[in-house]
Amino acid sequence: MTRTFDVLVVGSGIAGLSFALKVAAQGHRVAILTKKTRAESNTNRAQGGIAVVMSNTDDFECHVRDTLTAGDGLCDEQVVREIVRDGPSRVQELVDIGLKFSRDKEGNYDLGREGGHSRRRILHVKDMTGKAIEEALLRAVARESRITLYEHCFAIDIVTAAKLRRRPGDWEGNRVCGLYALDVRSGRVKTFVAPVVMLSTGGAGQVYLYTTNPDIATGDGIAMAYRAGVEVRNMEFVQFHPTTLYSTTNLRFLISEAVRGEGAVLRTLQGRAFMRQYHPMADLAPRDVVARAIDREMKRSGAPHVWLDITHRSAAFLRERFPLITKTCRQLGIDLARDMIPVVPAAHYTCGGVATTLAARTALPGLYACGEVACTGLHGANRLASNSLLEAVVMAHRGAEAVGAYLQTEKPSRAKIPAWVDLGGGTEDERVVVSHNWEELRRTMGDYVGIMRTTKRLERARTRIANLKKEIHDYYWNFSVEPRLLELRNLVQVAELIVECALQRHESRGLHYTPDFPRRLKFAKDTAVKKR
Ligand code: SIN
Repeated sequence: MTRTFDVLVVGSGIAGLSFALKVAAQGHRVAILTKKTRAESNTNRAQGGIAVVMSNTDDFECHVRDTLTAGDGLCDEQVVREIVRDGPSRVQELVDIGLKFSRDKEGNYDLGREGGHSRRRILHVKDMTGKAIEEALLRAVARESRITLYEHCFAIDIVTAAKLRRRPGDWEGNRVCGLYALDVRSGRVKTFVAPVVMLSTGGAGQVYLYTTNPDIATGDGIAMAYRAGVEVRNMEFVQFHPTTLYSTTNLRFLISEAVRGEGAVLRTLQGRAFMRQYHPMADLAPRDVVARAIDREMKRSGAPHVWLDITHRSAAFLRERFPLITKTCRQLGIDLARDMIPVVPAAHYTCGGVATTLAARTALPGLYACGEVACTGLHGANRLASNSLLEAVVMAHRGAEAVGAYLQTEKPSRAKIPAWVDLGGGTEDERVVVSHNWEELRRTMGDYVGIMRTTKRLERARTRIANLKKEIHDYYWNFSVEPRLLELRNLVQVAELIVECALQRHESRGLHYTPDFPRRLKFAKDTAVKKR
């Protein structure tokens, strides 16, 4: 059966929900498709907060400067200025729908600090900011009758006019017509018709074995946009969060950078504080610098982790400011007020993504992207901490304005999208191939495309990924689709894009570091990949 809407939103994090509320308020019928349940998103895990100029001891110029410095010469300055400037109005809208940011005893916002920020400017809800924002937005969505939320609904591919004409390379008059999505519970593929698709699927941390991201972060939107012929940019800039809880399992629990903002110090296993020797901002240096320093210290000593030391703070302070981190560490026998925390870097944020304008528009008419899936130019070669929630709310608003204008000129889609053809079963044996390839892909990325890269290792990764891609595609075209297979198909695509962008960059800049090209080139340039 075909479902028809004005706007389809893929993903239910802060970007997708904010955007959906705004286009619904314009009178449009909106469907939100989420592959798991509504509350499962990257937003939910964001502990730190939202960087925004909200106090009279701060100013836009300073936030812009910190963002440009962290981005290591690759940010688009106009984009940075506009997003920073729009921040306070968008944050006020979150307050208006009921979000209660933490305040100090005098009733002022309790502003946190994280790496790369020269001022305290992070609004937070203790150490559970993302969860609080997500809940507030979901309550607002539940009150909006024009929004239909489809849970367990996995978007497979965007249907474009060119694909319907069976001439994918022919962009004349090309535009979005809808998408196919797997109803995970029934196993059937549904057709959604709409002139607009907004991708807000988050990042792709799951392409690495060790990540702070939830299971859903498989780069679905990036892979879909690429397959639809849209340009993807700067994928080599994968941000590794410096401090995730060390464990011998695959679990990586984030220890927010805000802990260092409250004075925590990184130490070697022998207790030596080492960050001062790497950067004048020491433990609050930009993330790329801190993650690389930890990587270097670990490699030099052979240690499996470093320590994060916040024992100078009282138990009462830590319980109040970081309840989630305190509780999680306590469950593992770590008392933050007495014990140091074992930490390692892990993949955290995809700075590159689907190329968009400041109106969240891609080059394909009707296709928009906002949040981590998109590359606006804000983050450059390294995202400044807590700028992601800011970008998500600002770009959701701008995207809604642009979509409103597009829908005034665009007639409702009457595209006849053929029903999905199911290619038949799959056996237990073949499912093993999926889990095997999943593991191999993520290990390859960790081993060859990690914090330190070399051309030789990137080329090795390229060969392995090409083999895996071929096997996964054969499987995709011969069996019924299921969520793990769809995710793997997207992951292998994203892995290929990361490697292709990394091989294009003949310099070390921000999060991309290679001893083969240790210098930063004089002129900063984006890398870009587009399907031919
Ligand atoms: C953190 O709390 O350290 C993560 C916040 C972010 O990634 O911006």
